[in-house]
Amino acid sequence: MMRIGIYPGSFDPVTYGHLDIIHRASRLVDKLYVAVSSNPNKQSFFEISERMTLLQEALKKSKNVILDHFSGLLVSYAKEKKAAVIFKGLRAFSDFEYEFRMALANRELEPEVETVFLMTSHQYAYLSSSLVKEVITLGGSLKGMVPPFVEKKLKEKISIR
Ligand code: PNS
Repeated sequence: MMRIGIYPGSFDPVTYGHLDIIHRASRLVDKLYVAVSSNPNKQSFFEISERMTLLQEALKKSKNVILDHFSGLLVSYAKEKKAAVIFKGLRAFSDFEYEFRMALANRELEPEVETVFLMTSHQYAYLSSSLVKEVITLGGSLKGMVPPFVEKKLKEKISIR
């Protein structure tokens, strides 16, 4: 039986932290959907199409990874894709409470789908899309945080604002 997993997120924008989790999650399943959430109520920096273009570039060498987007409930999307596992990355203690609640809610909604937490690599423990946006807005370098083409796109976006 084929093992299918989902790694959901906003990816606004993708960081090396996300790519680290994608790389490790993809080794645990036959097929991994990287699913960009298109939540119209959430204010995002990049349009969903821009977030997907950046992810596509970052994931072009990944073999069993499929890029997709979803709206609505994550567990409904997981069922639709016949996924047994939702992967979440855990950074520091601060992620735990929120992710724990989400995992329990998702299990209540869909007991068949398991949430699996992967610990981030230590060098990315501080990293988040929000931090990246703050650093670039304040003129800092994103070396070691995001791929160069993501930094370039962020700079372009800021300059046309
Ligand atoms: O990268 P993010 O912003 O932390 O990702 C959050 C995401 C997209 C995984 C989360 O908001 C989500 O699962 N959204 C889908 C809606 C849903 O299923 N919510 C949970 C119901 S309790």
